[in-house]
Amino acid sequence: MSSLLDSLPGLVDFSQKSLLLSATAIAFNPTFWNIVARREYHTKFLTRTFGGNSQAACYALAITIFSLGLVRDFLYERALRHQPSHPALEGTVPTAAGYALVALGNILVISSTWQLGITGTFLGDYFGILMDSMVTGFPFNITNAPMYYGSTMSFLGTALIFGKPAGIFLTGVVLLVYLVAIQFENPFTSEIYAKRERARAKTGGKKGGKKVEGKKEL
Ligand SMILES: *[C@@H]1O[C@H](CO)[C@@H](O)[C@H](O)[C@H]1NC(C)=O
Repeated sequence: MSSLLDSLPGLVDFSQKSLLLSATAIAFNPTFWNIVARREYHTKFLTRTFGGNSQAACYALAITIFSLGLVRDFLYERALRHQPSHPALEGTVPTAAGYALVALGNILVISSTWQLGITGTFLGDYFGILMDSMVTGFPFNITNAPMYYGSTMSFLGTALIFGKPAGIFLTGVVLLVYLVAIQFENPFTSEIYAKRERARAKTGGKKGGKKVEGKKEL
């Protein structure tokens, strides 16, 4: 382990500001959407901004999160271009593996968005837009967080396509950030749904089950 760390400075150029900027963007995004979504859940400030239309408010947040994701991806690729390549990552096999990972990652992300819809993918439950039942079909039958693992796979694949060890390092940052996000988000989401179940039980199971799409557990 210590020899691995000793060899890291040669593999990753930590003096590049673009590396720090990319890592910051990676950590910023889930932090941002969790703070905004929890504030929305407690105060409904976004829904009020949109005149009480929670769907519109959720779509606005979705567009914002999606745009932040594009900025993050741009900064990641720019950071990789400033980093040294490694011969072990430059052959046909790593490159092919990189494209396969990006393809698989995108399948997970796109199929998950397809299953959940826009509001379900982008924190709709914090806006009171709950789904009627859990989504259990693909990709949720292979992982409970296909968005996060799919995104991580795309980062790793891009690192291999570029042949840059720094990309593998940044993918580690992505995974860490998502694992923390899952720990933070899942209990909260579960509690939102548990609350609805309690409300349903109280009203005899007839009310509170608005038929709208919602997310499973991102
Ligand atoms: C998940 O669902 C898909 C599509 O229904 C199916 O093809 C696949 O075998 C399932 N995977 C597992 C692990 O159950």
